[in-house]
Amino acid sequence: MKTQLANIILWISFLSISSCSTKMTINKEQPEKSSNNSKAIIFVDSLLQKMTLDEKIGQTVLFSSGSDITGPTIDKNFVDYLKDGMLGAVFSVPTVKATIELQKIAVEETRLGIPLLFGYDVIHGYKTIFPISLGESASWDLDLIEKSSRIAAEEASASGFHWTFAPMIDISRDPRWGRVSEGAGEDVFLGNAIAKARVKGFQGDDLSKNNTILACAKHFAAYGAAIAGRDYNTVDMSERELRTTYLPPFKAAIDAGVTTFMTSFNDLNGVPASGNKFLLTDILRNEWNFDGFVVTDYTSINEMIPHGYSKDEKQAGEQALNAGVDMDMQGGIFLRNLKKLVEEGKVSEEKITAAARRILILKYRLGLFEDPYRYSNEQREKVTLYKPEYLETAKELAQKSIVLLKNKNNILPLNKHQKIALIGPLVKDESHILGTWIARGDRTGKAVSVYEGIENLLGNTEIIKYAKGCEIEGNDKSKFNEAVNIAKESDVVIMVLGESHGLSGEAASRTNLDVPGVQKELIAEIKKTGKPIILILMNGRPLTLEYENEVTDAIIETWFSGTMGGAAIADVLFGAYNPSGKLTMSFPRNVGQIPIYYNYKNTGRPYKIKGAEQRFRSKYLDAPNSPLYPFGYGLSYTSFQYSDLKINKNEFNFNETIEVRVTITNTGKYDGEEIVQLYIQDIVGSVTRPVKELKGFEKVFLKIGESKEISFLLTSKDLAFYTNDMRFKAEIGDFKVFVGTNSVELLEVEFSLK
Ligand code: GLC
Repeated sequence: MKTQLANIILWISFLSISSCSTKMTINKEQPEKSSNNSKAIIFVDSLLQKMTLDEKIGQTVLFSSGSDITGPTIDKNFVDYLKDGMLGAVFSVPTVKATIELQKIAVEETRLGIPLLFGYDVIHGYKTIFPISLGESASWDLDLIEKSSRIAAEEASASGFHWTFAPMIDISRDPRWGRVSEGAGEDVFLGNAIAKARVKGFQGDDLSKNNTILACAKHFAAYGAAIAGRDYNTVDMSERELRTTYLPPFKAAIDAGVTTFMTSFNDLNGVPASGNKFLLTDILRNEWNFDGFVVTDYTSINEMIPHGYSKDEKQAGEQALNAGVDMDMQGGIFLRNLKKLVEEGKVSEEKITAAARRILILKYRLGLFEDPYRYSNEQREKVTLYKPEYLETAKELAQKSIVLLKNKNNILPLNKHQKIALIGPLVKDESHILGTWIARGDRTGKAVSVYEGIENLLGNTEIIKYAKGCEIEGNDKSKFNEAVNIAKESDVVIMVLGESHGLSGEAASRTNLDVPGVQKELIAEIKKTGKPIILILMNGRPLTLEYENEVTDAIIETWFSGTMGGAAIADVLFGAYNPSGKLTMSFPRNVGQIPIYYNYKNTGRPYKIKGAEQRFRSKYLDAPNSPLYPFGYGLSYTSFQYSDLKINKNEFNFNETIEVRVTITNTGKYDGEEIVQLYIQDIVGSVTRPVKELKGFEKVFLKIGESKEISFLLTSKDLAFYTNDMRFKAEIGDFKVFVGTNSVELLEVEFSLK
């Protein structure tokens, strides 16, 4: 009781000191909108003066509550650390009530009563689950992606969370890596735009509002370039490649105001990211002026020992803090070693104070010092989760994430009078459809399965017969016959196949990207019936689909489409929604082609499909160079014609604006949306340049027969790259501009920069 009273007196004195320049009250009202840091700095600096070294170290300590297992270790003593004033944040707290109980200990039972920060992995939804991030990226719909992050923040903040470990903005060109499911694909331009949209969605326009949460740009950096696509594996690349392909989305996140960063597990050019001063200080602080805080990934400081970079925990802690880490996730290294390291002169107290300051400033900006419980309200949670408008948005985003890969003889959309055989292990699934990282999503009893979606849309199941056929994995073919029999009695077969949610995501790299188990053999048996097959895929990464592309009549890529996935898929199947999604990762023909991506280099012996002598060319003997489905690819039920590609002139100087215009016409039988893409090629550079680079896109809705002229504006900034002397600028020379429906089918025009 005494401590409590002392704390209240202490707070009043703090607030009176820190609020001398504001009319901040000491009651429960929120601090004024302190959008700028100055009030936070005044308050925090006065608080820091009262903090002991231990208490400052405490702010740098983060542990999981253990309610979700997201790493190899759990430490059940985190409440003891909290009571000792040695805990700054907790993640994965299971309930609002639990956040109140933990916060009460922090505020009433520690000497200074500094509130805790509650974090969680809210990646593609909190309760209302949206398509996995790779799926969302296929919508190319930045407003909707921002809205889905905003809704995730509304729900998570209503459940007591202040901070999400998202967005994951790792570029990757290797679908063997299971975590491509969490990102935005292979392209920097699109990846930058999506990173910004997500940060804005999570953080909103005012962190002092209790429905906005801190975002976290992860995993810094180049985690998606793990050799051989094996998770946590080595990353080694030139600084040019790092700055060209893997760093830009992180800078984009900073430009959008991201407040926290998370280090990655991998080593980069021999130095683990959590001990990498080049990344965490030279680039992040000195070049980009980032002023938020840096948290490590799960025990990644400890892992510098098996990396062979640290001889023991103490050295790992010294290296991490001195490199620029502010908060240690789950490792306990800062907790156990920082004080000794200060006493031994190996780390400075100033660095620890700086780390604590960054953390405390964000706690202040969230309003937690004013009211530590402002996010924890069970009544608010009850009326916020699963709001009907959230589910509507989840359905809309699921629809727009769906990519139509094949539609032979326009077999789709289906009419409602055909007899349908629904076959496959994912037909009635309501768990895998949610994907990985589903926070507090419900794996039973909530998500709309494909079966349910079709049943709801048709209003009955008279024309439907169902057979599971097989499991997702395993080699049991005992249910094949039942599936074959219902196929024989049908007009059309819809097969819902793919991965389990555990086959992608973290620690889920695969060397074989076929649909697993005996699912392909099931297709072969159904094929023998002669019935047309529509394949619906649920998967967390590009798969190798040459066989499926050969034998099926239509293929719909649905990713893991979230709580409303089955409803969205049914809408596409029966034409209630005309699919418009476009791939953001290339789909390889086989694993041997990986890494495979659209913005490759031409080489000195480029592969020509025809003409010049083919032997001494950059090619394979057993497969084409091209992917099965390229970046930017996706069909529609209608057709779009591109014409009249024009450029305002053919020679530009560096301060002139390039205007490119193109006309798109809906020449088909359905209204629909088209994602118009613009690429450039820098023909000659002081270093070799990609054959094309995405530099613009626009979604356009066209009614049947309607035409629209789209214009894109480019400046020399859009043509800049890391030149031979590592300066980021455009160079004079000849360029091509391409505009079209994907990264292969394009109109082109040329221009020069003088
Ligand atoms: C995991 C992931 C990271 C996540 C963290 C906390 O290992 O790498 O993305 O945010 O741990 O769950």
